[in-house]
Amino acid sequence: MKVFATRKVPKITRELLEQNQIELDEWHENHSITKHELMELIPGYDGIFVMSTQFDREIIEFSSKNIKALSLLSVGFENVDVKAATEFGIPVSNTPDVLSESTADIAFLLMQNVARKAFFNYKRVLDGNWKREFNDHLGFDLSGKTLGVFGLGRIGFVTAKRSKAAFDMNIIYHNRSRNEEVENELNAKYVSFDELLAQSDVISIHSALTPETEMIFNKDAFQKMKNSAVIINTSRGKVIDEKALYEALKSGKIWGAGLDVTDPEPMSADNPLLALENVAVLPHIGSATKETRTAMGKLAVENMILALNGKRMKTPVNP
Ligand code: DGY
Repeated sequence: MKVFATRKVPKITRELLEQNQIELDEWHENHSITKHELMELIPGYDGIFVMSTQFDREIIEFSSKNIKALSLLSVGFENVDVKAATEFGIPVSNTPDVLSESTADIAFLLMQNVARKAFFNYKRVLDGNWKREFNDHLGFDLSGKTLGVFGLGRIGFVTAKRSKAAFDMNIIYHNRSRNEEVENELNAKYVSFDELLAQSDVISIHSALTPETEMIFNKDAFQKMKNSAVIINTSRGKVIDEKALYEALKSGKIWGAGLDVTDPEPMSADNPLLALENVAVLPHIGSATKETRTAMGKLAVENMILALNGKRMKTPVNP
């Protein structure tokens, strides 16, 4: 058996494949693999480890001749046409749960960063502009403020938990369905999308990217938010209309933004958002800890081996 990875996989993945006598090739080029390059390689393999690479219906149909598994190293799977994969009999899996804590940590970090303008102030130090200010460039206290969680899965829950424990924040949330665990454990309140927009001091986005959530944070949504509000995104860049976000921040319609994900990725260094004082941007590092990447790599390889042996994957996303 021979598998291909669209980027370099964690060490554990390589080791476990070796133990199971499965050969691995990885994409080593500096640029992300193109559709054409991928289609040239696919016929030589039995399975693919997918790291953010797009698998549309055309590639899926083409892959179905020989590919027995698409094992994703991510919780998000909007890059794969799962409906087509199911139709063509290709099992697809993701890596849920193992990255919830580390991704929530990044949401929590961005929240504090924006509230206290940490990146902006760090840049002042780097620029030789170390100065104590008493009235300018002030941040705000998170203690006792309202956190609105948009999309309350495991990552949203951990973010809410951290925020409650550290800052005694009042938790409200909007989700496809109500979550009794979070309501009981964190005294959280389910609200409509409009109520979430109107009542939150900080909104943290944790939804999947779907046709319903794409650009849901748009001009209209920003109009409904508090002028003092901060928006945090660790899910997918496309959930926010970035041009509308820039206008909302620039005009003072909302106060700040912390983004670990952008649209597109990578964000270009001359993006005007980066010049704003109340904006903090990270290069999609939600799951980037040694522990989490190891756990993701292990789960992904377990899924791959199961599928290559014709068994049901541990964390499949096909219905
Ligand atoms: C995920 O797992 O979906 C993270 O955002 C990494 O892509």
